[in-house]
Amino acid sequence: MKKFLLFCCAIVTMYSFSGCASNQSKGEYTWLKQAIDVSAAQLKETVADVGDSVLLPRAIWTGYDMDFLCNQLQRDPATFKDSLRVKPIKDALGTRRYCSSIYDWTSGFFPGNLWYAYQLTGDEDLKKDAVKFTNYLYPVKDYKGTHDIGFMMNCSYGNANRLLPADSARLALVQTADNLCGRFNDSIGCIRSWDFGKWNFPVIIDNMMNLDLLFYVSHLTNDPKYKEIALKHAETTLKNHFRPDHSSYHVVSYNNDGTVELKCTHQGKNDESAWARGQAWGVYGYTSCYRESKDSVFLQQAKDIAELIMIRVKTDDAIPLWDFDAPETPQTPRDASAASITASALIELSTLVEDGQVYFDYAEKLLKSLSSDAYLAKVGTNQGFILMHSTGSLPNGSEIDTPINYADYYYLEALARYMQVKGLDYKSL
Ligand code: GLY
Repeated sequence: MKKFLLFCCAIVTMYSFSGCASNQSKGEYTWLKQAIDVSAAQLKETVADVGDSVLLPRAIWTGYDMDFLCNQLQRDPATFKDSLRVKPIKDALGTRRYCSSIYDWTSGFFPGNLWYAYQLTGDEDLKKDAVKFTNYLYPVKDYKGTHDIGFMMNCSYGNANRLLPADSARLALVQTADNLCGRFNDSIGCIRSWDFGKWNFPVIIDNMMNLDLLFYVSHLTNDPKYKEIALKHAETTLKNHFRPDHSSYHVVSYNNDGTVELKCTHQGKNDESAWARGQAWGVYGYTSCYRESKDSVFLQQAKDIAELIMIRVKTDDAIPLWDFDAPETPQTPRDASAASITASALIELSTLVEDGQVYFDYAEKLLKSLSSDAYLAKVGTNQGFILMHSTGSLPNGSEIDTPINYADYYYLEALARYMQVKGLDYKSL
């Protein structure tokens, strides 16, 4: 009898432990399930709203106050005023901003968001929407006017080909990669970023993000030339874009002989500041370069930038101010996009090194912050965007403390990477 009672107790104990464990793991990922559900719902509402118009959601129109801008930039209003590129459009404030055309640098992100939402949920309606919005970008395969064709086509057609391989997508990617390589200058060792502005040959840190298209096309074609150009660009950038503390300049312009013409900023607080998104582009880009090359120099660079970010971001929730050198005031806008890019990069970095837990933990903290009420929109609000509080280009008066499509893109990518590393699928959440 005594033995029987002990056996019953053991069964009851085991049962309650296993029940507890499964409830615990369910509870542990409530934030993740909510993040995915909100994202899918927001995207579906936006698609319904846009209908069959060829419009690609980008952000919400914002305005600015001149004194506030000058205070953020610590500049004199008298000299600053005329440098502003963007004038607020009074009637548009608070409404959804669409890409100016399919050639807007952010045009690939909305289709990419639909692909990631499809990947995360398996929802066939999202897949149909993703195909529809991706197809709008088809003519971009012939465009040669900016390095951003990497963002535009890899985020749309790249994800399309990954999740639904098709010859037409593959060919569009190869053609875009050829056009991007056409912007590579041998004597300089870099891909040219912009065709506008006062610079001789501008290269921006953001350009590191366009290398993933070249890596992908090298895999698709078995032709190493795309990867070789990408790695040369990364090598030259490593030499010239970084300061001793591993923070980066935004813009480095080159003379035709490969010497540096000047180093400056276009979207940061000042030429010597650490623009938050620039640091995020850097850690993401060098993580990709290490993944593809296994060159320890690139790994060290990725780790050094990660370290810089983890040390320099002082906010409680780890979401950076728009520039690490911006005034530390409660009014200073954050940049959720920099946080989501960093989260995605650090999850990947954590899988490439033995001591990766520190990167994974930091990325998890970022994702939990972004998935909190402070950043994740409520369904039906935020003009259909997923995250709030990004900053596009404060010195140009553009997209200040607002949702932006690329914050959503790298957030969804980071959620997908998080689930992969944890071995989770949507149905188990
Ligand atoms: N590539 C432009 C930006 O990060 O705003």
